[in-house]
Amino acid sequence: MADEYAFEMAASSLRFGAGVTREVGSDLADLGVRRVLVVTDPNLVARAPVQAVLESLHAAGIEAVLFDQVRVEPTDLSFKAAIAFATARPTDGIVAVGGGSVIDTAKAVNLYTSYPPADFLDYVNAPIGKALPVPGPLKPLIAVPTTAGTGSETTGVSIFDFTGMHAKTGIASRRLKPTLGLLDPDHTRTMPPQVAASSGLDILSHAVESFTAIPYSSRPRPERPALRPAYQGANPISDIWSLQALRIVAACLVRAVDDPDDDEARAQMMLAASYAGVGFGNAGVHLPHGMSYPVSAQVTHYRAPGYPADHPMVPHGVSVILNAPAVFRFTAAANPARHLQAAAALGADVARVHEADAGRVLADRITWFMQRLGVPNGLAAIGYSRADIPRLVEGTLPQHRVTRLSPRPAEPDQLAALFEDAMVAW
Ligand SMILES: NC(=O)c1ccc[n+]([C@@H]2O[C@H](COP(=O)([O-])OP(=O)(O)OC[C@H]3O[C@@H](n4cnc5c(N)ncnc54)[C@H](O)[C@@H]3O)[C@@H](O)[C@H]2O)c1
Ligand SMILES: [Fe+2]
Repeated sequence: MADEYAFEMAASSLRFGAGVTREVGSDLADLGVRRVLVVTDPNLVARAPVQAVLESLHAAGIEAVLFDQVRVEPTDLSFKAAIAFATARPTDGIVAVGGGSVIDTAKAVNLYTSYPPADFLDYVNAPIGKALPVPGPLKPLIAVPTTAGTGSETTGVSIFDFTGMHAKTGIASRRLKPTLGLLDPDHTRTMPPQVAASSGLDILSHAVESFTAIPYSSRPRPERPALRPAYQGANPISDIWSLQALRIVAACLVRAVDDPDDDEARAQMMLAASYAGVGFGNAGVHLPHGMSYPVSAQVTHYRAPGYPADHPMVPHGVSVILNAPAVFRFTAAANPARHLQAAAALGADVARVHEADAGRVLADRITWFMQRLGVPNGLAAIGYSRADIPRLVEGTLPQHRVTRLSPRPAEPDQLAALFEDAMVAW
């Protein structure tokens, strides 16, 4: 099969500004929406972002149906509950107000109520599901993020924990992309510091992974354009967004976590989340995310400070960043120059660094952020031991969609070595 010769950029429309949430009713009215499903989680429902959305809808004469039962780190079961709720109360548009858990749930609700599949797994990524293409356009979906992290407001990806398999997986289609992302930096002021840290480290890893992913030109060329994956591999457009996201993370992440009243740092981090979303949404992520899926799905007792205590969970950004230093020490050999560029964008002094040390320098820089932001010291600190490695490897293997984008292929033995290296971070 011939190598790929083209790359494409797809992203949601984005609008940024403090207070911009008040425009949502007017946007939906212009889209012809009369009755809208507002999706959020139990912790956010009484807070200002949701109230601002409801007021704006009311002012525009749009009827709102509220679903506030999104599970933080959603599962197939929580997706199904949201879909059942929405199926029983048809609407012609959706607003998601919350973090990635809320926005991803809203995307699934949009797809499954618009084109109900014969089986829940029909749209889910292969080999776990059938990866059937989304048959047509979905309803308007406006995303109002309240974390600065996932970039889900701009991507066509929806991630959930597949409880039957003890691994996270997802649904990916450009058609899942929100119609519009409303970036309102006022909303992130109330994030607990641990949520600000974890979601900020998710941005960091999105950007480094998409910048170091295999080049788009080394993938096979698709038979027709509709089969070109959203995760295309690194390409000149996504590089720009990923590098700029890293520069912002270097300048603003610690400030935004330390001081929620630092309006400038918070606003910049909100932009960085979407920038990295545009970057990885068109290039893809690789091993740190692929390995994070079993790490988050197989956790047995860890409960994260700052997050709801109703179930054991590892915040997504933490599960990703715990793998990142080990991965980049491993992948740097495939493209040392890019790993050094990423380290430099993150603020490392790379002037006299030899290429052979690129992986160590990037890993050390990431570890500095982890220490400074109080992330647990490795997989061991969230309850994993060497005995868990075979199952962690097993849960990573089906994540082809992302792991095949690694600049250096990782076979099961190498994945095991990476998990071992990630047990203790410093
Ligand atoms: N679709 C994508 O492209 C994509 C990319 C990365 C991650 N994800 C997914 O997103 C999820 C993680 O999302 P997240 O990191 O945004 O966090 P989250 O949505 O899981 O929320 C974490 C916690 O923070 C609370 N919270 C959120 N905003 C708040 C605010 N402003 N004030 C007070 N509390 C607030 C929530 O109520 C929740 O308790 C994971 O399921 C992950 O797999 C998706
Ligand atoms: Fe992520």
